[in-house]
Amino acid sequence: MIVITSPDEMTRYAESARQSGERIGLVPTMGFLHDGHLTLMREGRRQSSVLVASIFVNPMQFGPGEDFARYPRNFERDCAMLERVPVDVVFAPEPAAMYSTDAQSWVDAGDITSGLCGAHRPGHFRGVTTVVAKLFNIVKPHLAVFGEKDFQQLRAIQKMVRDLNFDVEILPVPIVREKDGLAMSSRNAYLSSTEREDALALSLALRAAREKHRTDPCCAEEVVFAATRVLKRMKGVEIEYVEGVDAETLSRHPSLDRPILIAIAARVGKTRLIDNVVLNP
Ligand code: PAJ
Repeated sequence: MIVITSPDEMTRYAESARQSGERIGLVPTMGFLHDGHLTLMREGRRQSSVLVASIFVNPMQFGPGEDFARYPRNFERDCAMLERVPVDVVFAPEPAAMYSTDAQSWVDAGDITSGLCGAHRPGHFRGVTTVVAKLFNIVKPHLAVFGEKDFQQLRAIQKMVRDLNFDVEILPVPIVREKDGLAMSSRNAYLSSTEREDALALSLALRAAREKHRTDPCCAEEVVFAATRVLKRMKGVEIEYVEGVDAETLSRHPSLDRPILIAIAARVGKTRLIDNVVLNP
């Protein structure tokens, strides 16, 4: 496994791999890896001959007052985990190598980013689609892997790829959970042991929504309400939003004869957590 920090060197490597007929897979991450990330790596591994993992805590997707500076980092441990997949290349640039001080161009995926997390984190998705577009240009992947844990992010990237004719196949991977149901996340490292218990409310709420949808699917509002009720019971959890939207378009007027996304964002202590489920008719 080789580590590349220079974007130019990464591009030279990718160009030569393409010329040799390799199929390049890319798994973009912000590091502090867990088994959710590794599941994406294993999927990428199966479908590519050269697998690149990027580790870059992207300053452009964090708002003022968010956790950019204290976002958990452990490069040595990440590399040890990636070596075992195995990953061929770790691309780990410094922010200064990714953004020149006069950079002013952005990629914005439009309406799909306006609701859900987009409504609570202004500028976040613009930062995500911009860095992912840059990573696509630098790494030139045939295939890129993204988790359904960040469902709106996945939809924004798919929209960007279609709108801007990126020649990349996007491979979505289902959410990987801890045994008790908590969705794996680098931010779970912030949770104290009581917060860790409270955090279970998110996956329990989604389970209640699924159950309501299975047994008595009269309207989306009721499915959302079943989830909200469970979240409100947990004292340590402060709801940011619970919403039911069309799983394709993220439109706020879902119809129960199409797949519907139930998405939650909530604060447990100071930690912001997200989780979701797609319910099929
Ligand atoms: P990060 O939060 O590190 O996540 C990297 C990838 O892992 C994303 O595609 C995310 O959806 C996926 N992932 C995280 N936890 C998961 C889980 N429990 N199950 C399945 N997949 C999971 O998402 C980002 O980084 C950044 O926004 C990035 C795309 C790298 C752009 O900066």
